[in-house]
Amino acid sequence: MEYTFPVTRTATPKEKPDQKALGFGKTYTDHMFIMEYDEGQGWHDGRIVPYAPLQLDPAATTLHYGQMTFEGMKAYKNPQGGINLFRPDMNAKRMQNSNRRLCIPEIDVDLFIAAVKAAVKADIDWVPEEPGTSLYIRPFIISPEPSMAVHPASRYIFCIIMTPVAAYYEGNDKELHGSHIWVEEEFIRAAVGGTGFAKCGGNYSCGMIAATEAKKHGCEEVLWLDAKEHKYVEEVGTSNAFFKIGDTVYTSSLTGSILPGVTRDSALKLMAKWGVKTEEKRLEIEEVIEAIKNGTLTEAWATGTACVVSPIGLLNYKGTEFPINGEKVGELSQKLYDTLYGMQTGEIEDPMGGWVVTL
Ligand code: COI
Repeated sequence: MEYTFPVTRTATPKEKPDQKALGFGKTYTDHMFIMEYDEGQGWHDGRIVPYAPLQLDPAATTLHYGQMTFEGMKAYKNPQGGINLFRPDMNAKRMQNSNRRLCIPEIDVDLFIAAVKAAVKADIDWVPEEPGTSLYIRPFIISPEPSMAVHPASRYIFCIIMTPVAAYYEGNDKELHGSHIWVEEEFIRAAVGGTGFAKCGGNYSCGMIAATEAKKHGCEEVLWLDAKEHKYVEEVGTSNAFFKIGDTVYTSSLTGSILPGVTRDSALKLMAKWGVKTEEKRLEIEEVIEAIKNGTLTEAWATGTACVVSPIGLLNYKGTEFPINGEKVGELSQKLYDTLYGMQTGEIEDPMGGWVVTL
């Protein structure tokens, strides 16, 4: 089905930020996509409007009970002057899964993708072109319905906002560096049966306390352990974690508490294509530490839409620092970053066929 949306352009376009000093999520573009859901009517009235604050009733259930979901995607300027998206169908399907968990009505995959394309087209001149930059796209759903009762709402708003960004971890857009990571032993991110596999605000707000603790110890991020035994590695901050031990690359299996990252899936598929042995399994933190000590763990990295591929330089576990690969960026981490970012920006051909979608 073809979707078209009316466009109301802003009368007061903003000045664009300096592409050399973008940071992450500091400036928002001139327009946004918005669409409502009403019970009995479904999703309706998708449109592009000038970027503006949303008016919310202070009793909106989203504000109190956190019934919301979101996605993270990026648009890149390609060498032909066109715009690339990366596997947008994966984000559309993941949002459907997240919505099911949060009792929010699903959005049709084609409608989601059409909305993202329309939003990017409306602000096409905001897609930056400096190396390492992109237009970060944030689709999200909230409920504006005023109620103090805890039950699924009958009205929702789907909105897409966009922000030109540099690397999520400062400096990684110029040259990758190994992050220092705090292995969190007290707090947990998600438990099996909870919302860990869904992209919803609660998974992120509950992690801030550990991230704050990590910063106090000079670490950029947290390595989460499983909720039940605090024994198995799960995710790094807001990203999926990979460890190369011997000739095999391990990442946590999708147990229900792990976010099924689009970059995680892409990295696994690329490595399979390159003949690198990979395994999805529950990896014990003690195995990881032992492998660092005996030198068999030669590389580790995190993957996510925001960070793409972010090497791990060191784990801080039980008060001891365990450097990985002398804190140098590993060959495979660099190859994955170069290939993924290269495909996304159109600098190298899409070896998987169909991952890169051009506007
Ligand atoms: C992403 O990688 O797109 C994310 O959603 C992480 C985000 C919380 C910055």
